[in-house]
Amino acid sequence: MAITIKTDEEIELMRQSGHLLAKVHDELHAALRPGISTFELDEIGEKAIRALGGIPNCKDYEGFPASVCISVNDEVVHGIPSKDRILKEGDIVTFDTGLIYKGFHSDAARTWGVGKISDEAQDLIDVARDSFFEGIKKARAGHRLNEISRAVDNYVTSHGYGVVRELTGHGIGKSLHEDPIVPNYKKFWPGPKLKKGMTICVEPMITLGERYVGWLDDEWTVVTVDGKLSAHYENTIAITDGEPEILTII
Ligand code: MF3
Ligand code: CO
Repeated sequence: MAITIKTDEEIELMRQSGHLLAKVHDELHAALRPGISTFELDEIGEKAIRALGGIPNCKDYEGFPASVCISVNDEVVHGIPSKDRILKEGDIVTFDTGLIYKGFHSDAARTWGVGKISDEAQDLIDVARDSFFEGIKKARAGHRLNEISRAVDNYVTSHGYGVVRELTGHGIGKSLHEDPIVPNYKKFWPGPKLKKGMTICVEPMITLGERYVGWLDDEWTVVTVDGKLSAHYENTIAITDGEPEILTII
């Protein structure tokens, strides 16, 4: 699929979609506490999306059974919410979710600590978030996509963490996953030239230990092979004439 360029009117709809998603993330964060199950959190997320007039875009995506991917500790992405998964103090939890509003998708992920977490876990979470902001400094019209990837990779690896390679960011618009893929590691191809009106998801997934990941038998949950923690941070952004606009932060 070719890269789609959005008009200003389409960007406005993507902004509306993204701003609603930011509110959903706020609700998920506010609901996070020791003792809650990931199933309950998914219900809170789905209700919030629908109450705002959105449609969850994870639900039924290639058979995914929930509206929010909820990944705990060594789970990197695509954790399936479950009544048996009760969160406890010290866990770290990633919410990765999105919605469709007026025909346009938005997609964002956040990792949070449950109650008090270790300094080590907090630093991992902070570096995942900060690597996104380092990456999008390069998200300007005329730059090559690889500059974003390289900036994320350099930032994460300079902090001693691993960058997951098996999963990437992506273009987004009327479809959840559009071209181009947005790797979080530097490659030796430059990638496409960024243009005003492109909308992409930049989403570093990073690991405390080795960068290698595997899939559980449920065929969704991605985990670190060494069992160490992982963190994820994602926003939908738009390429503009100047600085990129983050569509999923209000
Ligand atoms: N939000 C995820 C992404 O970044 C969606 C994963 S697909 C799902 O692409 F089916 F797992 F939800
Ligand atoms: Co995404």
